[in-house]
Formats: sequence, C-alpha cells, structure tokens
Amino acid sequence: MSASKTKPIRWGMVGGGRGSQIGYIHRSAALRDSTFELVAGAFDIDPERGRAFGVELGLDEARSYRQYAAMFAAEAERPDGIEAVSVATPNNTHFAICKAALEHGLHVICEKPLCFTVSEAQELKALSQARHKIVGVTYGYAGHQMIEQARAMVKNGDLGEIRIVNLQFAHGFHSAPVEDQNPSTRWRVDPTTAGPSYVLGDVGTHPLYISEVILPHLTIKRLMCARQSFVKSRAPLEDNAVTLMEYDNGAIATVWSSAVNAGSMHGQKVRIVGEKASIEWWDERPNQLSYEVQGEPARILERGMGYLYPEARIDDRIGGGHPEGLFEAWANLYRRFGFAISKEHGLAPDGIEGLAFPGIDAGLEGVRWVENCVRSADAGGVWVDYL
Ligand SMILES: NC(=O)c1ccc[n+]([C@@H]2O[C@H](COP(=O)([O-])OP(=O)(O)OC[C@H]3O[C@@H](n4cnc5c(N)ncnc54)[C@H](O)[C@@H]3O)[C@@H](O)[C@H]2O)c1
Repeated sequence: MSASKTKPIRWGMVGGGRGSQIGYIHRSAALRDSTFELVAGAFDIDPERGRAFGVELGLDEARSYRQYAAMFAAEAERPDGIEAVSVATPNNTHFAICKAALEHGLHVICEKPLCFTVSEAQELKALSQARHKIVGVTYGYAGHQMIEQARAMVKNGDLGEIRIVNLQFAHGFHSAPVEDQNPSTRWRVDPTTAGPSYVLGDVGTHPLYISEVILPHLTIKRLMCARQSFVKSRAPLEDNAVTLMEYDNGAIATVWSSAVNAGSMHGQKVRIVGEKASIEWWDERPNQLSYEVQGEPARILERGMGYLYPEARIDDRIGGGHPEGLFEAWANLYRRFGFAISKEHGLAPDGIEGLAFPGIDAGLEGVRWVENCVRSADAGGVWVDYL
C-alpha cells in the first residue's frame, strides 16, 4: 500500500454524534491513513450535545457547530474551510444535507441509503456532476480485499459463465421489538425517517452493492419481491424480505434481507455460482474466500497471500494470517474516496488506480433497487421490469 502524497483533506461530519452506531467508524476510517483531517462538525440533532462532543474530539470550539447549515455557511467563508463532509444521520435527512453540501462546493461521503427516491438520487448526481464533486457512499464491506479477489476471479474467467447469485444480509438483532427501548432502531422502522423500506435499504443494499462490484457485467432485467413485518408494529415497513432477480444474461439471483433471522449475527453472505466453480464470502470471516471447483476439494483462499490476484493485495496493511477487519475495510474505502477527491483537485496520487469505490451511481442503484422491490412487493409480489 503506497502512502498518499497529498495533504490531508479538510473534513467535517454531520451526525455520527455520541452514542450513534456508525459515527466512530467513519472517524476511525477517515483518519486512519491521514487521508482526511477532522476540522469541523455538526454531530448531533441536539445542538448542545453535538457542540460539546466536537470539542471533546479536539475541534476548535468555533468549528463545532450546532447545525449543519451554519457549518456549511461559515466554513465556505474560511480560506481553510472544509473540502469534504461525511453525512452519518438518519435516512430522511440525507437528501437535504447532501444537496446543501454540494451547493456549498463540498465533496460528500454519505451513508446508505443515499436518499428516498430515484429522482432525488438523480438530482444529487446532476448536482455533483455540475459542481465536479465526488459523492461516496459507505457500503463499507466492499473495502474488504477478498471482494477484489472475487471480482478479479470472475473477470479472469475462473468461474466460467455466471449462473446463480445468492445474496443475504440476515441478522437476528431485531427479532423482538427492540425499538421500544432503542432510538437507533426506532427511526429505522418509521417510514417518515427510514424511507420506503426498512431491511431492504438498511441491510439488503450492502450485498447488492458487493454483487455489483464482483459482477459489473450483469444488469438486472426484472425482479420480484415479497416483504413481511413479522413484528407487526413495524408495518408498513418490512423486517424481512426475499427478492428474486433475473439478469439480462439469463443468470438468476436471490437476496434475503432480514432483521429477524433469530440466532444469526450478521449473516451477510455472497455466493456466486459459475458453470465451472463457485465462490462464497461471509462478512464474519472477511479474510477468507471459499473457492469450490466442481469435482475438486473446496479451497479457502486467505487474504494477504501471494496466490491472490494483485488487485486483492493493494490494500494489505499487514501480512496474511493477521486478521484485518471492518475498520480496515472502511479505511480502504475512505482512502479511495480521498484519492478520487484529490484527483478532482488536479492532483494525481498513485496507489489505487482501477479499484472500485461506491460513488453516486452506487448510491443511486441502491435507491433504485429498493424502489423496484417495494413496487413489486406492494403489488402482491409480482415480477416487475427493472426501471
Ligand atoms: N454503512 C453501514 O454499514 C451502516 C451501518 C449503520 C448505519 N448506517 C447508516 O448510517 C446512518 C446513521 O445510522 P446510525 O445507526 O448511526 O443512527 P443513530 O441513530 O445511531 O445516530 C444518528 C446520529 O445522527 C445525529 N443526527 C440526527 N439528525 C441530525 C441532524 N439533523 N444534524 C446533525 N446530526 C443529526 C444523531 O444525533 C446521532 O448522533 C443511517 O443512514 C444508517 O442507515 C450505515
């Protein structure tokens, strides 16, 4: 892994305040390789709590803001103002915050789902293109090196023609109505704050994005989805959904998105079946990829080893056998966001040419997929053309 030759990007955060689920990993990932430098923030829906938290993180008091709008306005006036912002707030705020950030000339790294509707996502895309700004979306698991290995294996024909794609992100943490006690879960099951879906957007979009990385040549032609609210109070939002998809080459996929897979931890798995062989990746063993050639004993490929494709070695931080984890995967993504931003600034750092990162199109595709799944499910679980 080569180091960035550029200066750290001046960076702010919206959301991700004290006690939030995802704020800490954003900071840890962004700061890991000195790609970004945290200089400002509006961290919390509670202005005073947010301000105090920023000061505790070491920010200049004047740059720990009560509200994001004030932050964008004040930072735009400073010669050393922020150049990029990460958005780690509940889903219903993403569109307005991303739009305001882009309008203030900022690069944006936003949580998934990017927004509620395809037309909102298209508006953000048009704005980012007009302003020459990067929008990154934190599909963090895609930063694991074995996803690059899987992508290279498919590209190099190790599996043959792809036939079947089996995706799941099915955890069991919300098998009971935990939202009664937990604010981080409560907004997720309320359509005004979560959007048109719960688990489809919250978890299903993660393996969906991984499948897009591994199988860039496949295009979804049509899909059918059924969604359920096993905890009844969550209706109309689903806590379980099953999606069947057909690709334009005739391959077929299933996606199981669930928060009620009792007894399961994350349960995120990606299995790609080709005519010659299959590969399978599980996010609870992210340093390994199972490679199963028909008629031969199954092999476990390990991160950091010389037999992997070069693309799977670029992000190595330590030799094989030492487990790398989600924090490293996120840091890999943040490095890619940083490189993309530096390129936009006319700098050409070396190191990760050719590696994919989830940008505005990935955000848009996630929203599009949820919209199509909901359209199918709400029509009674029927095939719908993928719009
Ligand atoms: N990429 C992933 O793997 C992953 C994992 C978990 C959550 N997420 C996403 O991250 C986002 C946040 O989820 P979470 O679980 O951390 O939520 P959370 O409820 O735990 O935390 C949300 C944080 O945002 C703050 N906030 C809310 N409105 C704000 C506003 N207007 N201005 C400033 N701060 C505000 C809250 O005070 C809190 O600190 C969601 O979109 C979620 O889907 C992504």
